[in-house]
Amino acid sequence: MKNGRNAVDDLTPARDTLAPIETASRDEIAALQLDRLKWTLRHAYENVPHYKTRFDAAGAHPDDLKELSDLARFPFLQKQDLRDNYPFDLFAVPMEKVARVHASSGTTGRPTVVGYTRKDIDVWSEVVARSIRAAGGRPGWKAHIAYGYGLFTGGLGAHYGAEELGCTVIPVSGGMTERQVQLLTDFQPELIMVTPSYMLSILDEFRREGIDPRSTSLKVGLFGAEPWTDAMRREIEDAFDMHAVDIYGLSEVIGPGVAQECVETKDGLHIWEDHFYPEIIDPLTGEVKEDGEEGELVFTSLTKEAMPVIRYRTRDLTRLMPGTARSMRRMEKVTGRSDDMMIIRGVNVFPTQVEEQILKCRALAPHYQIDLTRDGRLDMITVNVEARDIDVTRDGRDGAAKELAHHIKSVVGISARINVTDPDSIERSVGKARRVIDKRPKT
Ligand code: DLL
Repeated sequence: MKNGRNAVDDLTPARDTLAPIETASRDEIAALQLDRLKWTLRHAYENVPHYKTRFDAAGAHPDDLKELSDLARFPFLQKQDLRDNYPFDLFAVPMEKVARVHASSGTTGRPTVVGYTRKDIDVWSEVVARSIRAAGGRPGWKAHIAYGYGLFTGGLGAHYGAEELGCTVIPVSGGMTERQVQLLTDFQPELIMVTPSYMLSILDEFRREGIDPRSTSLKVGLFGAEPWTDAMRREIEDAFDMHAVDIYGLSEVIGPGVAQECVETKDGLHIWEDHFYPEIIDPLTGEVKEDGEEGELVFTSLTKEAMPVIRYRTRDLTRLMPGTARSMRRMEKVTGRSDDMMIIRGVNVFPTQVEEQILKCRALAPHYQIDLTRDGRLDMITVNVEARDIDVTRDGRDGAAKELAHHIKSVVGISARINVTDPDSIERSVGKARRVIDKRPKT
């Protein structure tokens, strides 16, 4: 990239700066996991009535775990279980040992609440610090944090991790886009942590103010909290002349920092398997699948004290792959969760598939929202997407709409209505973008 400033060789962390477990043998990792898993199962069984009831009902006792694969005998934990135990009944330690809670707002009903002991927060800081280093970040860098601060785990999770690594933290939170641009310009951070969709809003603001985004000091961004495509990665990397890497996590498991892409390979996300044990299951039967097979990602925490999670069903769809830049296994970039899946005339469609096609059309901006409607018994989608330029003529917009409809038809395999709108007309979020508006009649 420009001036060699962002050359990958300069960013790849030296081997001796990694935690020993990052490059340990598979046998060492498995041995550690087994020890920790035994502890976790006992801790949950003895201290959380929900787990005792569920394990007993399934005829599974912590002593039954002799090897890692025995975990399959234990029941799953689902989002509904967190709601049913609202707010604190899944905690495994007395309340005075809980140093912090977070919660995800959820669109309906009760929020899901999670808790951390001091030690949990230390572990969380450590895995986020590890993630930032894998992304190319360094002690001494300035880190602009634009994930939301508050009950959402993004802001504070990133904050503690960046501090742990030895960065100078700039805790901006999300929103006030003009100020984001001012601080990025004046404070000269090397690192940014923000949702990819909000990064695009920041990009628009740079352009609106006539500042070349390629002139910023940014070298690396850790983008996550929502699905995004490789096409979006290229868009952001080209626009800012920086590296864009993927960070994954979820509140129930800890927050950001469960898995991280390495800057030198960008080939999926290494799961920090010394703290989070992954499985892939068939979402319909619950059966465990082999590495390499697609399915729903399930996590068991290995060290969490305040709120251990045993076989938590994430609803995220991916597959596990062997380690590359680190010994720990990778998960494929999550491009869809089962909750976001639309079924259009029998074809399963995720918003990211539409995003990929939008980014192929030069006249269209990567700001989009999909209306899901019903015509008789069939679901249909309308893709609302912005023109890149206000000056694009009616003919130009019609052409872009036809081009997008064609790509969607030939690659995704469905017919979609396309509505090309003015720049800046589609709802912006300062955190996670809302990609699908369900306008189907409630039954
Ligand atoms: O979004 C934690 C986080 C904050 C991750 C900042 C990364 C950066 P929740 O609000 O509980 O936690 O949402 C978790 O978001 O199950 C995925 O569906 C989705 N998600 C998170 N990271 C990614 C990613 C945070 N990198 C849910 N790619 C998860 C795709 C992601 N989806």
